Amino acid sequence: MIKRAAADLAAARFGVALTGAGISVESGIPPFRGKGGLWEKIDPMEFAHIDNFMRNPAKVWRVLVGEMKGVIDTAEPNDAHKGLSTMERLGLIRTIITQNVDGLHQAAGSTDVIEFHGNFAWQRCMDCDHMLETRKVDMRQMPPRCHCGGIYRPDCVFFGEMIPPQHLARSRQVATQCDVMLVVGTSAVVQPAAFMPVIAKENGAKVIEINPEPTPLTSAVSDYLVQGKAGEVMSRIVAEIQAQHVSAKPFSP
Ligand code: OAD
Repeated sequence: MIKRAAADLAAARFGVALTGAGISVESGIPPFRGKGGLWEKIDPMEFAHIDNFMRNPAKVWRVLVGEMKGVIDTAEPNDAHKGLSTMERLGLIRTIITQNVDGLHQAAGSTDVIEFHGNFAWQRCMDCDHMLETRKVDMRQMPPRCHCGGIYRPDCVFFGEMIPPQHLARSRQVATQCDVMLVVGTSAVVQPAAFMPVIAKENGAKVIEINPEPTPLTSAVSDYLVQGKAGEVMSRIVAEIQAQHVSAKPFSP
């Protein structure tokens, strides 16, 4: 499977990756679903729905945002993030669509990252739109407030909110254009992100999954699943590409 994925990626003319929380598990960030997942500890409808944030921002800040800040502030990219960035340099992966808000793809050096669900690195004042880096937020005041008195909210998509239209449009576009889509560490149950591999497949792309577990895409949409942890699998795929197939191909427009 490693050899097969390496050969398919090495042949890609327009490779795109779709990533989810699983890619950051080896960086110490827990996923949302399954054993040890965040939604096992807290109810997403209570803490991650926009209506509940508006009703009681201090409560959501104390629990969800505080919890995420604690883990994301100190996380570092792992071999899976680094592998995707190497594949970009080799001309094999052109764009990453990520559902993650942790900024680890950019920290690993990937340059074209569509943040489908926004980014947790920044907080936005709901009154004046002032932006504040999350690491600079004073957690002693709940909810944290801007100098104008407005409340800060994460620059992320809450349940009940739209995907930023420019991110959705561009994701659909690259999903349509790609000839290989690498789907890494997502349970593929949250729409519309989970529909991107379907668009890719319908437009003739090969869909390769990396995940320790099968997902609803497996067999139905994906050509095959490379079963295992993202960091371990990705570093073996990259080593195989470099040993067998290396020839950097700069992207043509
Ligand atoms: P999930 O938590 O739903 O799924 C994580 C996936 O990662 C599962 O399929 C696991 O099997 C897999 N996984 C676990 N460890 C892994 C590892 N070491 N390597 C590779 N895969 C591993 O996360 P997402 O699919 O990203 O949305 O969830 C999608 C969205 O649901 C999130 O963006 C978030 C959440 O509610 C919002 O907050 C709007």
